[in-house]
Amino acid sequence: MNARPRVLVNEVGPRDGLQNQRVQVEMEDKLRLIGALVAAGVSSIEATSFVSPKAVPQMADADGLLLRLPAKEQVRYSVLVPNERGLQRAIAAGAREVAVVLSATETMNRRNINMGLAEARAACEATLAAARAAGLRSKAYVAVAFECPYEGVVTPETVRTLTEAMFRADADEVVIADTIGAASPADVAALLNPLVAQHGAERLSIHLHDTRGMAVANAWAALDAGMRQFDSSVGGLGGCPFAPGAAGNLATEDLVLLAAQCGFETGISLPPLMDAIDLAAQITGRPLGGRSHAWLMRQYRSHAA
Ligand code: COA
Ligand code: ZN
Repeated sequence: MNARPRVLVNEVGPRDGLQNQRVQVEMEDKLRLIGALVAAGVSSIEATSFVSPKAVPQMADADGLLLRLPAKEQVRYSVLVPNERGLQRAIAAGAREVAVVLSATETMNRRNINMGLAEARAACEATLAAARAAGLRSKAYVAVAFECPYEGVVTPETVRTLTEAMFRADADEVVIADTIGAASPADVAALLNPLVAQHGAERLSIHLHDTRGMAVANAWAALDAGMRQFDSSVGGLGGCPFAPGAAGNLATEDLVLLAAQCGFETGISLPPLMDAIDLAAQITGRPLGGRSHAWLMRQYRSHAA
């Protein structure tokens, strides 16, 4: 029997999803959500970010959270760090994998981390070097890789240049991020096909948002371009507080179902993932669920009234 090709689902709900909530989510609830995701078979999770608590109050508990993460031997946990201060906090809390964020435009870097593009690039390079020296695995996000809410369309050439810079700075992986969910499947193919040819799909990942309802179509375009590593968030939770108009991420359940129906294996089981969606909705006080949610409810909760 041939094994089905694998798609790696990196769950970013606990970071990208929770950073933007109006209600302060308790650490205990974050840990319950992470536990529910692990129980559903999620094996890669962006757990939190070590950013300024003034900039993102929701992530102020990062240090304590990291110490208490479940199943650390089975699950690959990463954390986002905006600068070397964040990296040092992450190391002290026992992080093994960190992610830096380089936005593709001047203004987005300024709004997000209070640095211009050149300064942000240098800061990311320095953080990646320090992470390597400390023996950590690292990723670099190239954010607003298709369109910036402040400066408009971003060219593939810009993204290619920044991707190369991040690999030269020793990033193990580069994540191409459609931060505001503006890409079309044609844009995804045009950007990713040459990147996959140049760097290999094993070193690349894609981060999609569903602002215009195209996240699943874009995920398919990425799969078709050879991509096998995806960010997604449970129930489509998410949105960046510094990027106006950014809706939730590609929903994990949509990605898992897409992958399964297209012959890929994610290792994630949908019925317990539905429980994680319920929990995420409960702790954020928001209705959640991706494009497939209504169908999944009928499929797996037909006994429910
Ligand atoms: N963790 C905790 N605190 C930090 C920090 C970190 N990684 N980096 C800086 N700080 C603190 C400083 O100590 C200082 O505190 P103080 O006001 O009590 O003295 C304060 O934050 C401001 O520091 P400064 O170096 O002047 O940074 P800044 O105001 O220019 O902000 C960032 C820069 C990067 C710290 C901030 O913009 C940030 O955290 N952004 C994250 C945005 C984000 O998470 N976006 C979503 C993900 S892409
Ligand atoms: Zn995002």
